[in-house]
Amino acid sequence: MAESMQGLKRSHRCTEVSVNDIGSKVTVMGWVAKQRNKGGIVFVDLRDRSGILQIIFEEDKCGAEAFEKAGRLRSEFVIAVTGSVEKRAGAVNDNLATGQIEIVADSIRVLSEADTPPFPVEENSKTKEEIRLKYRYLDLRRPDVQSKIMLRSKIAATMRAFMVDEGFLEIETPILCKSTPEGARDYLVPSRVHPGNFYALPQSPQIFKQLLMCSGFDRYFQIAKCFRDEDLRADRQPEFTQVDMELSFVDVEDVLDVNERLIQKVCKEAIGLDVQLPLPRMKWIDAMNRYGSDKPDTRFGMELTDVSDVVKGCGFGVFTSALEAGGSVRGINAKGQGAMPRKKIDALVDFAKGYGAKGLAYIAIQEDGSIKSSFAKFMTEEEMSALVGAMDGQNGDLLLFAADKTSIVWNVLGALRIELGKQMGLIDESKFNFLWVVEFPLLEWSDEEARFKAMHHPFTMPMEEDWQYIDSDPGRVRAKAYDIVLNGVELGGGSVRIHQNDIQAKMFEVLGLKQEVANERFGFLLDAFKYGVPPHAGLAYGLDRFVMLLTGADSIREVIAFPKVKDASCLMSEAPNIVDEEQLSELGIAIVATEEAVETTEE
Ligand code: AMO
Ligand code: AMP
Repeated sequence: MAESMQGLKRSHRCTEVSVNDIGSKVTVMGWVAKQRNKGGIVFVDLRDRSGILQIIFEEDKCGAEAFEKAGRLRSEFVIAVTGSVEKRAGAVNDNLATGQIEIVADSIRVLSEADTPPFPVEENSKTKEEIRLKYRYLDLRRPDVQSKIMLRSKIAATMRAFMVDEGFLEIETPILCKSTPEGARDYLVPSRVHPGNFYALPQSPQIFKQLLMCSGFDRYFQIAKCFRDEDLRADRQPEFTQVDMELSFVDVEDVLDVNERLIQKVCKEAIGLDVQLPLPRMKWIDAMNRYGSDKPDTRFGMELTDVSDVVKGCGFGVFTSALEAGGSVRGINAKGQGAMPRKKIDALVDFAKGYGAKGLAYIAIQEDGSIKSSFAKFMTEEEMSALVGAMDGQNGDLLLFAADKTSIVWNVLGALRIELGKQMGLIDESKFNFLWVVEFPLLEWSDEEARFKAMHHPFTMPMEEDWQYIDSDPGRVRAKAYDIVLNGVELGGGSVRIHQNDIQAKMFEVLGLKQEVANERFGFLLDAFKYGVPPHAGLAYGLDRFVMLLTGADSIREVIAFPKVKDASCLMSEAPNIVDEEQLSELGIAIVATEEAVETTEE
C-alpha cells in the first residue's frame, strides 16, 4: 500500500546530511538498498542519486507502527523517513560519505512497494548487458551507472556555459529534414500529407549551421541529436549527440584556439584534469606514416617503419610485388616479444587478415640472436640483417611486416599496433593524450564507386596552396580539415568551409555530382551563398564519446541513458516495431515481404 507525499517535504538528499547536522531533524527519501532486522533494531541503507545513508528504527523511538513498517521493508521499496541525525553508535564506515552518522527514525512512510528486481541493484554488477538494458530503468539506479549519467550532465552544462560565455548563440535546427545522401545512410520518416515523400533525420546540422552563418548569427552552437543508419560499434550509436558549432570570419587557428580552451575547461571541471595548451598537432600524413591511423593513440610508441627502400630488390616476392604494384612494405617492432609462441603469432596473422592483409611476415629474434622467420628462406643474410637493422631489432624482439597497397598496410599495422599495445600492457590508462590531426586529404578514392569521395564532407575548403592540383592530381589536395583525437578515439572533427561558388562547383564536379543533382540536393545552400556569405568554419564533438573517455567507460552505451544495441534496437521498449495497418495506409505505405521475413514467418 503506497502512501502519499501530503504534508511531507524532503530536507536533504542522503549524502547532504553530514556530521554538521548532528542533533537536528531531517526528512530523507529514496530507495531501500538494504534492510537488516537485528532483533530490537531495524537497519536500513537508504539510497538516492547522491549515495547511501544509514537509518535505524528502534521501537521505543519511532513507535510500534513505524517499527512494524520498517520490519516489512524490502529492497527497492521507496520510503520517506523523518528522524534525528546522530553520531553512529556502531562502527564508523569510512567508505561512505555518511559513514560517521546515522538517522534515528521518528516516522516512516512507504511511498511505494517493489517487486524483487530481476537483478540486484548494486555497484559493478556482473549482470549480462541484455538483461541490464531490458530493465535499463533499474540498471540506471546502480550508483556506478548513475554517476556516469550525472557526469554527462555536468560535461554538457560546462560546455554550454563556455559556449555562451564565448558569445555563441544556441540555435535549434530541424529534425525533419531533406535527405542528402552523402556519408552514412539516412533514417527516413514518411510524410502523411505528401504521400510517397519522406523526411530524413539529420546526420548532423551541417547545412543548417552554414545557413545560420549566411544569416549573420556569427557564432552558433547546439547540443544536437544526430541520426546515422550505420553499422554499430562500441563507439557508435544510430542516434547520438553532437556538441556542434560554427563560426564566421575565422580560419583554422581561430577554431582550434576556442576549442582548446573548451577542452581545457571541460576536463578541469568534469574530472579535475589539467590539460596543457596548446594541444599537440600532427599532420594527417605523419599520423598515417607513424601510427597507421588518422586517430593515433599516442600513449605508447611502437611506431611504424617504412622499409620499402630496404627490401627493394630483395628475394621475397611478396615484398617486391607489393612495391612493383605501387604499394609499400612497413613493419612494427613488438619489443621483447621474440619468444612469442607460433600459435600466438598465427593469431596475429589472422587478426591482420581481418583488417584486409593478405598475410603478415615476421622475424622473431631469439635471445641468442638466432632468427625464426616466415620468409628468411627468400632472403640473403645481408638483406635480412639490413631489414633487422632498419627496424632497430634487438635480441628478443618480434618484427612484423605487411606488404600491400599503402592504405591497407597502414590500416593493418595501425590495428595490429593497438592490439599489441593492449596485449603487452603498454597503454598508460591514466593518460589523456589529446591530439589535433590536421591537413587531411580533401578527397579519398573509393574503389567501390570508382570515384573520389569527400573525406570530410563536400563543403570542406581545400588548402589554397594545393588547389592548383585539383585537376592533375586530386588525391594530392589537402583540406582545411581537422579532427580532435583523444587516446586513439576521434572525439570531434570539422573544417573551414568553401564559401566561393566557383570552388564549390568544382568540388561537386570532382565528386562526380552533376550540377543539377547538386542543385537538387543542396540548392538552398548554394542559393544562400549567392546573397552574401561570410567565410566560416566549425567543428562538432561526439558528446557520447567525450563522456565515455572522461568517465573511463568501455562503450558509449554506458554513458547514454537509453542506448540501442548492435542491431539498432532498444531492448527495453522494443523499438523499432511494427505499426498498425491503419497507420501504414494513411501514409500510403505497403510492406514488401523480404525473403528473410518470409523465412522467419515460415519457421
Ligand atoms: P563528423 O561526421 O566527423 O562531423 O561527426 C562529428 C563527431 O560526431 C561523433 N560521431 C558519432 N558518435 C556516436 N555515434 C555515431 N554513429 C557517430 N558518428 C559521429 C564523432 C565525430 O567526431 N558536421 C560535421 C562536423 C563539422 O564539420 O562541423 C560532422 O558531423 O565523435
Ligand atoms: P607465402 O609465401 O605466401 O607462404 O608467404 C610467406 C609469408 O609471408 C607468410 O608468413 C605470409 O603470412 C606472409 N605474407 C603473405 N602476404 C603478405 C603480405 N601482403 N604482407 C606481408 N606478409 C605477407
